[in-house]
Amino acid sequence: MIEILRKRRSVRKFENRAVEPEKVELLKEAVLRSPSSRSFDPWEFVFVSDQSLLKKLSKSKPHGAEFLKGAALGIVVCAAETKSDVWVEDCAIASILAQLTAQSLGLGSCWIQIRKRSFEEETSSEAYIRGVLGMPDTLRVLSIIAVGYPAEQPEPIPRKQLKDGKIHLDRW
Ligand SMILES: Cc1cc2nc3c(=O)[nH]c(=O)nc-3n(C[C@H](O)[C@H](O)[C@H](O)COP(=O)(O)O)c2cc1C
Repeated sequence: MIEILRKRRSVRKFENRAVEPEKVELLKEAVLRSPSSRSFDPWEFVFVSDQSLLKKLSKSKPHGAEFLKGAALGIVVCAAETKSDVWVEDCAIASILAQLTAQSLGLGSCWIQIRKRSFEEETSSEAYIRGVLGMPDTLRVLSIIAVGYPAEQPEPIPRKQLKDGKIHLDRW
């Protein structure tokens, strides 16, 4: 796991190449194994590989999502808000597990933030995505994880660049 953490960087450029079905199955297994508060499992995942839908989803917000149209897969991480008061935390855990699993499979990924973002002035990114994917209004959307074979390899961050001052021992 530490090797996966060392190598993982956000990838926003992807090869024009599908992800093998076996790898997609492993990504599905990974997110379904996410721990959730009180095991309520409030999350739902929409695995999107249809290129025209990925293109539409890449317009979910004005900046920071455009590269999704070049990805092989977008995992839309959403939840029924009424099922858990900590659905955000549960969805965030599933999102990072998808990213780490992608890394372990030789794939690149990037988190696209959706919650609290806007498609345009009067429309949230969440509402736009619900419309594109035909999701019920009761579902909240935390993120989309863009996944594909990397066409860029950002350098791993050296150990000495990590912010050791963020670690506090015993007392603040
Ligand atoms: C909660 C969260 C939201 C993020 N949202 C976006 C996003 O909307 N678009 C994007 O391109 N990257 C997004 N990222 C990726 C971060 O920009 C990236 O993780 C950060 O710059 C560190 O770089 P690294 O992942 O290569 O280590 C997000 C990451 C997190 C954890």
